[in-house]
This record gives sequence, structure tokens and C-alpha cells, in this order.
Amino acid sequence: MESDKKTCFHCGILGAMPEEIGATIDNLNDLSETNYGDLKIFSGEWLGDEFDNLTIYISVAWSGWGKVSAARAATRLIGTSFKKKKIDLLIFTGVAGAANSSLKQWDLVVPSALVQHDMDARPLFPKFVVPTLRTDKLNSIEKYSDWSVAILSEAISRGKLQKFGQISRGVIATGDRFITEKGLINMLSDEIIDLCAVEMEGAAVAQVSHQEGIPWLILRVISDSADESAAQTFSEFLQEYSKISWNLVETLMSEIKSII
Ligand code: ADE
Repeated sequence: MESDKKTCFHCGILGAMPEEIGATIDNLNDLSETNYGDLKIFSGEWLGDEFDNLTIYISVAWSGWGKVSAARAATRLIGTSFKKKKIDLLIFTGVAGAANSSLKQWDLVVPSALVQHDMDARPLFPKFVVPTLRTDKLNSIEKYSDWSVAILSEAISRGKLQKFGQISRGVIATGDRFITEKGLINMLSDEIIDLCAVEMEGAAVAQVSHQEGIPWLILRVISDSADESAAQTFSEFLQEYSKISWNLVETLMSEIKSII
């Protein structure tokens, strides 16, 4: 980063639900709103710590659940400019069901890779392979995932992210299904090596960003165990999580200068 010139960084932040992004909009200055049918994108200048030579713009949206909604919102967000600055990084943040019994509520998952567990174009392509990409797995971008793990671990060890648990790496499986069956998790775990969590948007956002050439980062917090109790624990967790979900985004934004 040049020291004598003001640098701008424009971060897109996407979640499936407003609860997963928290108070983001309240932390933006010069707020503007763009509407695409029922999708709203809010853009503004981040009101966090002041950096000498860096201004952070944020554009934020919630997509709704599922891969189609997530892909549509990611596409719109990637196309958003604020004060003529295009998106530099797209972060998707939200909750996930644990697919590994060592993961507990409030643990964080930064995926090493994402798989669409409901993609099945056999016999033309092997199970899970996304035909357009000719791969079954989208690997995360190390620069951003390693950075987020380092920043969040440090914040947790300094007691800054109270309530949050351990940070794990592993494969996240995405599909248009809210999973409430241990049997299905066991089947997916047999087929997807290193599976640690399931959710309904991440691989779609990763695919769109990858195809559009925009850096991306997915971050998930465990809300439930994707078993028979998932619907109840998910709803209860979401109420608590919505009060502090912004802390995660804020922690990352306050260290964004280290990846520019
Ligand atoms: N997101 C959070 N919990 C989930 C679950 N059990 N299945 C799919 N997506 C989820």
C-alpha cells in the first residue's frame, strides 16, 4: 500500500438473513440504497477505526436462503460500485449446521473448500462435479481464508469475540436443503472428505465470485448439529447470534489494511 496516497477498499458483505449481518448498516456513513426488485443493496463508508491512508467502503445485502437467491445476490453485489469503486472482496457470513461432532454452537468455520452436495449430473459427470467448472470442489482463496483465521483467532484469544468458540478449517457442503437428519450427515461425510459443516448458500457465492474473477471469503458460525433438533436449536441460536453477528465483520474490517 502506498503511504502518501489515499487507498480505497470496497468490501461486499452478504448474508442469507439480516440477523447474520447484524448492525452493519448502522455503521455506515453516506448510506445509499439500490433496489433490484426485492433485493436491496446498502452501500456506505465504514465508520470504524480511522486509518491514515485507507477508506473502506462496504456494500451489504441479504440474499434469502438457498443457492439461487445467493447466486443472484452475489451477482448483483459484485456489480455494485460506490463512489465509482468496484468490489474488491466479497465476504459471505452466516450460520451453518455442524457435520462433525467435535464442532459446537458458536464455533467458527472458515472453509478450506466448498462442495454443492445436491449437484449430481451423473452419468455425464461424476457426483458433485459442477459441469461448468469441471470440478467437485472450489478451494478457498488462501490469502483471504488464512488472513481471516489469523485475525479472528487473535481476537478470540484477546477476549474480543466473547461467546465465539474455536475456529476450524474443513469442507463445507452447500445444498438447497435444511438438514435435520444425522443419517444424511453420515452419508455426506462418507462421500465428502473432511466435511465439517452444511449450509445453503456458500458454494453458490463461491462459484459466482470465482467465475466473475472477484476474491471471496466464506465464514460460518455453527448454529446447530444438522440433526433432529436442528430446527429448534437453529431458531434459538439465531436470536442470540443476531445481537453480535456484526462483531465478526467489524473485527475483519478493522484489519483489512493487512491484506491490501
Ligand atoms: N444452516 C444452518 N443450519 C443448517 C442446517 N442444519 N442445514 C442446512 N443449512 C443450515
